[in-house]
Amino acid sequence: MTLDRDAAAFIARARGRLEKADLHPRLRQVGRVEEVGDGVAHVSGLPKTRLDELLRFDDGTLGLAIRIGETELGCILLSEGAGIRAGGAVEGTGDIARVPVGPGLLGRVVSPIGAPLDGGAPIEAERNDPVERPAPGIVERELVTEPLLTGITVIDAMIPLGRGQRQLIIGDRKTGKTTLAIDTIINQRDSDVICIYAAIGQKASTVARVVDAVRRHGAMERCVFVVGSADASPGAQWLTPYAACSIAEYFRDRGQHALLILDDLTKHAITYRQLSLLLRNPPGREAYPGDVFYLHARLLERAAKLSDANGGGSLTALPIAETQAGNLTAFIPTNLISITDGQVYLEPKLFYEGQKPAVNVGMSVSRVGGKTQAKAIKSLADSLKLDYAQFLELEVFTRFGSMVDERTEKKIAHGRRLRSILAQPEYAPLPLSLQVTLLLAVAEGCLDDLPLSVMPDFRKRLAERLPQELPRAAQAIDETGALSEEVRGQLLTLIRDCLSGLAPEADD
Ligand SMILES: Nc1ncnc2c1ncn2[C@@H]1O[C@H](COP(=O)(O)OP(=O)(O)OP(=O)(O)O)[C@@H](O)[C@H]1O
Ligand SMILES: [Mg+2]
Repeated sequence: MTLDRDAAAFIARARGRLEKADLHPRLRQVGRVEEVGDGVAHVSGLPKTRLDELLRFDDGTLGLAIRIGETELGCILLSEGAGIRAGGAVEGTGDIARVPVGPGLLGRVVSPIGAPLDGGAPIEAERNDPVERPAPGIVERELVTEPLLTGITVIDAMIPLGRGQRQLIIGDRKTGKTTLAIDTIINQRDSDVICIYAAIGQKASTVARVVDAVRRHGAMERCVFVVGSADASPGAQWLTPYAACSIAEYFRDRGQHALLILDDLTKHAITYRQLSLLLRNPPGREAYPGDVFYLHARLLERAAKLSDANGGGSLTALPIAETQAGNLTAFIPTNLISITDGQVYLEPKLFYEGQKPAVNVGMSVSRVGGKTQAKAIKSLADSLKLDYAQFLELEVFTRFGSMVDERTEKKIAHGRRLRSILAQPEYAPLPLSLQVTLLLAVAEGCLDDLPLSVMPDFRKRLAERLPQELPRAAQAIDETGALSEEVRGQLLTLIRDCLSGLAPEADD
């Protein structure tokens, strides 16, 4: 009796499964690996594969088809691919590369395909987004109207950034490019901006230094690190900025504000050149393939300020580029300069002279950020910019030892004080209120008689006393960006207080 019942239940279950089973014939295209090595593979027998399609090799390695030929296609491997042999099988997946996105990534260090690199638990993703996505169209965008404060006085005052802008950080090696980006990330610890840092082709130790600096200065939980370091496969390095951009877009599309740092795109272009040559694409200028401009244009175009109808989110991009011997007219730097809305040029000469951050103000520009600059700092910076440019010229002139009149001497003294205010140690971004107070002190000429050697003491005193003695005024500037006459008076009194005792004639 029970046996019968069991048998009947079994038959019913089996029938149910059979009905659900898909018994239609399925077409599986299996290609063949013709050649493999140096992070690329040539594959034949997959005529239906589309550009950028993800392929799976028989050892589980993933590859991306980036060159489609008549009989063969060229594919870049996203991992080592040590198990791939010529003659092995390869299959198209019908999908493109995807990366996990979502708030679960905050505070994490991940590879461009979303594998954790910080030894933590697997990533809890909200969904998997394609790494290549079309940029928002014109109608979906809004003008850049909100400021993005870096906390670096020379940038916030003279080359201001707006949310949704693309600003290139460019300079020779070891001129403080990465440091500038880290300072900007640290400055977002109290803001609503989420930072995504993409490390492309860098040494693992350099990446560790960046992560450590951000962790120590308390901004880690607002950050995501996407790392394709120098020891990763060239394919993974190539994918890194696109994956990081998709992670940032998730926040942009939710109406939040994201800051994407791409460190650096010169290495990215070099990796692409290497892959391209291995895939036998025809080389062009400087041996880069013909589509190297498109490589970065399609990436940076995804930075945008969205209109209110689309959530009002923003994605600001800070790509970094390295120059050789200050040559801004090389192929990749000129491409990037023409794609972005401005550049911050870091000059080795200034760096070696001890002027850090070594921003060359004359050769740096921000084409859209000016409109977003807070009124408090704009009114001061406008006149200071002119003073500074004049000072730099005069200083060169007086190096020849020529006698100068008193007026010129005063201008030079004034310029030197301004230059000293624009210098800033690493990992110490300043709040807007302190920047405004420092610039006010210079603009009013309060510091002109102060010996340069006691300048650090003055800055230290001011940084301590401003939030203590004028908390309301400081808060008002930080929140509204405006400087009322009353607050201005209060700040000047504080400046004079701080100066007293530093230099005998400083407080007149
Ligand atoms: N504002 C600063 N104050 C003091 N030191 C700084 C400052 N900016 C950068 N440095 C120092 O200069 C060195 C080079 O900086 P950084 O690594 O940021 O340069 P980089 O241009 O990114 O170099 P690379 O070409 O290796 O990427 C670092 O040791 C850093 O500590
Ligand atoms: Mg660097």
